[in-house]
Amino acid sequence: MNDKSKSIVGLVIFLALVIFPVLYNFAVGGAGPRPELELPEGESRCVEDKDFMTAHHMDLLLEWRDAVVRQGKKNYTSQAFGEIYEMSLTGTCMNCHTKRETFCTRCHDYADVDNDCWGCHVEPEGQ
Ligand code: HEC
Ligand code: HEC
Ligand code: HEC
Repeated sequence: MNDKSKSIVGLVIFLALVIFPVLYNFAVGGAGPRPELELPEGESRCVEDKDFMTAHHMDLLLEWRDAVVRQGKKNYTSQAFGEIYEMSLTGTCMNCHTKRETFCTRCHDYADVDNDCWGCHVEPEGQ
């Protein structure tokens, strides 16, 4: 490689490093680089597809709560995968996402979300 093509490669890498985080933040809508989240080991998918969960997990949770508390329902059928889940924050979500600190809380701290479900709902063990 001659010096000129080296510097072009260098420039491309430099631009990629500078532009990537900007585009990435734009895509996820954050203020800075999104923190690394610990996903459940040995599981490949969530209750619904990932983009839906990222954007709408709070709505889903409140929907579950109302269905359980107001309508006495128990099960939820995934729109995306057809799988049936018990509508439970502790028993379903936290059964997969066992590390609340490095998942829910880490993202909420970053996004400045104040969610206090844990005064009443039992926290997952292990962290
Ligand atoms: C003041 C106490 C309290 C707080 C705070 C609270 N919940 Fe609940 N929640 C309850 C009770 C009581 C039930 C009914 C439990 C049952 O029927 O088994 C329930 C049920 C639920 C259910 C359905 C069943 C289950 O066990 O998961 C969901 C989902 C839920 N809540 C989500 C939330 C979310 C999300 C938050 C935070 C935004 C939250 N709750 C905060 C008391 C609370
Ligand atoms: C069967 C295990 C399992 C259950 C149950 C589960 N999740 Fe997930 N969740 C995952 C996996 C695996 C991913 C990553 C999916 C992917 O990469 O496609 C994920 C992704 C997510 C994401 C997106 C994370 C990101 O990086 O943007 C959120 C938010 C989330 N889950 C919240 C929840 C909530 C809230 C519940 C309960 C309503 C729940 N999950 C139930 C396994 C689960
Ligand atoms: C990828 C980042 C991310 C992850 C991971 C994540 N959340 Fe959230 N969560 C958010 C954002 C952003 C909001 C605020 C959305 C809004 O204000 O419209 C939010 C809001 C919520 C709310 C509503 C709070 C309120 O007071 O309005 C609940 C409940 C909630 N999340 C529960 C969870 C649980 C439980 C987990 C872990 C299983 C989790 N979240 C994981 C980003 C995340």
